[in-house]
Amino acid sequence: MSTSASTGAAAPASTSAAPRQEWSGQLGFIISAIGSAVGLGNIWRFPGVAYENGGGAFLIPYLIALLTAGLPILFLDYAIGHRFRGSAPLAFRRMKRWLESLGWFQVMICFFIAIYYAAILAWAASYFVYSFGLKWGDDPTSFFLDYVQAADPGFSLAIVPGVLIPLVIIWIAAIGVLALGVAKGLEKANLVFIPLLVVAFLTLVIRALFLPGAADGLNALFTPDFSALTNPAVWIAAYSQIFFSLSIAFGIMITYSSYRRRKSNQTTPGLVVGFANSSFEILAGIGVFAILGFMAHEQGTTISELGGLKGVSLAFMTFPKVISEMPQGWFFGALFFASLLMAGFTSLISIVQVICGSFQDKFGWGVRKAAIVLGGICAVVSLLLFSTTTALNVLDVVDAFINNIGVVASAIVTCVIVVWVLRRGRELMYHLTSLSTFPVGTWWLALIGVVAPIMLVYMFVSQVITFFVDGYGGMPGWFLGVAGWGSVVLSVIGAFILTAQRWRVDPDDFTAWPAYTPTKKEAK
Ligand code: ALA
Repeated sequence: MSTSASTGAAAPASTSAAPRQEWSGQLGFIISAIGSAVGLGNIWRFPGVAYENGGGAFLIPYLIALLTAGLPILFLDYAIGHRFRGSAPLAFRRMKRWLESLGWFQVMICFFIAIYYAAILAWAASYFVYSFGLKWGDDPTSFFLDYVQAADPGFSLAIVPGVLIPLVIIWIAAIGVLALGVAKGLEKANLVFIPLLVVAFLTLVIRALFLPGAADGLNALFTPDFSALTNPAVWIAAYSQIFFSLSIAFGIMITYSSYRRRKSNQTTPGLVVGFANSSFEILAGIGVFAILGFMAHEQGTTISELGGLKGVSLAFMTFPKVISEMPQGWFFGALFFASLLMAGFTSLISIVQVICGSFQDKFGWGVRKAAIVLGGICAVVSLLLFSTTTALNVLDVVDAFINNIGVVASAIVTCVIVVWVLRRGRELMYHLTSLSTFPVGTWWLALIGVVAPIMLVYMFVSQVITFFVDGYGGMPGWFLGVAGWGSVVLSVIGAFILTAQRWRVDPDDFTAWPAYTPTKKEAK
């Protein structure tokens, strides 16, 4: 390896960057950022997490997490992407040469999330079709396990055709959108799907509120259990929900904001995106628990006895059961799975754009080439891993480890390095404030430099201890090692390998704007 390659230096022959792609305007960016934020995390993760972690009382740590870490780190991502006008690796490299690998680590995280996220969308697509004939019959749990052929948890690479076909379609659609570029592809897809999603989901929630038993469901969700607030696990759940849901600290918002025009209001759109995302989350909580209230009512039982209130089991086992019991259940089912599909698709394209944008920036690849080659690689790995009988377990473990270890580590490193090691916090604060209608002050620096890192380090350490001591989901240690720790370690290795590659486009051909004069301390 040459010296320049090993240091990731720009080759002398590297060319200047092509003009950067841009959103058509502020609205396109805001809708796309909302599309990225609102996803599976809102519809199936939030309601169950809130219910299990103190119900109504969970809203307190949730709001605190939003205000102390969610929005401040969202602003930080915006500032980094916009000031240094690059996807994560380029933006971090422009901030400090050796920081490039942090960007590639975020790209690797996106790769792991994308490959399983698409699989869930494939299931939702199949279930959308199944809704019309209530194909899951009287026993949706066995139906689902048969569908993904996960009844046998052994490790096998046997293909499940019922998953393979929709998964291929999802990937073709995602690659098609990405190949059209930022304004014509991503933005247009969001402009179509987000309004449709809002209409479909509002119809579903309003219908749900009129079901018998809906009020009991809402009581179950919102009755506060204040004793939960003394449990650290509840606080960890709130912070981790906010991170996944807002799409922060894994490169998406850095990449998206790098496509904004120079004079772009930063913080106000951030507030709009943050509050839209949380509103959708609360709306999902209301809808899901109204439906669960109906189910408990029909079965003459209570919500706490229903079980299966989270994630995969909520969407693909519990919900189909309710749908079968409802008048015009097929309509309800179609709305629910269509919502899941639209919300998830707009998030999936944002996740894969992080990978495509990074290769465009470093290797000078065109939009189409990046979409086809990189989307193709994601698709093949996704198909190989997640259209097989092992999908359910791999998905569960990769999701837990990549989010609770990978994303949290990335957030800690970003905050600490930007604020304490490089001392670029004030510069970014200046960037946000000079361009925005809502100014940020030293309180923002205190949040990203002190409050968020303390919370995040605490979360990280507790999570690592839990994984080592208790394992995860009762799965064998070797499996957690391969799928869980393996995906985190591969992300680190991948980050270093990609950093070591030679830049084909000159990363230093750039001047940060608006100009900032560092203080003496910062300049040191
Ligand atoms: N923010 C996306 C979600 O909530 C990843 O699903």
